[in-house]
Amino acid sequence: MIGRLNHVAIAVPDLEAAAAQYRDTLGAEVGPPQDEPDHGVRVVFITLLNTKIELLHPLGDDSPIAGFLAKNPAGGIHHICYEVADILAARERLLAQGARVLGSGEPRIGAHGKPVLFLHPKDFNGTLVELEEV
Ligand code: CO
Repeated sequence: MIGRLNHVAIAVPDLEAAAAQYRDTLGAEVGPPQDEPDHGVRVVFITLLNTKIELLHPLGDDSPIAGFLAKNPAGGIHHICYEVADILAARERLLAQGARVLGSGEPRIGAHGKPVLFLHPKDFNGTLVELEEV
């Protein structure tokens, strides 16, 4: 059911410093910062040959990233995103197998303008999983 790895998201305490490190130290193709107010994050996308890295920083007061950074002040891997062809079919399959979908359970429009869902990390080996319809 899952296809490619779409991105790995890393929460960072200093977005400028992290973007500069990927650009200057690692020599990656780093995009400009983008605000995603609906998700409470400011993001920088890094395009690799086979996937993307999404640097996440809190935006606003209720950011879901703030608590993560409070527990992981140096930053850390926040979630991984797998592509699916049909997000509603994927959701039904997961629910039927007892996995928990976060939030309302309805897909939201993610940072790439495509529908996304998040799955409970306790159901997936301690890893927050995002599914993105492509
Ligand atoms: Co993501």
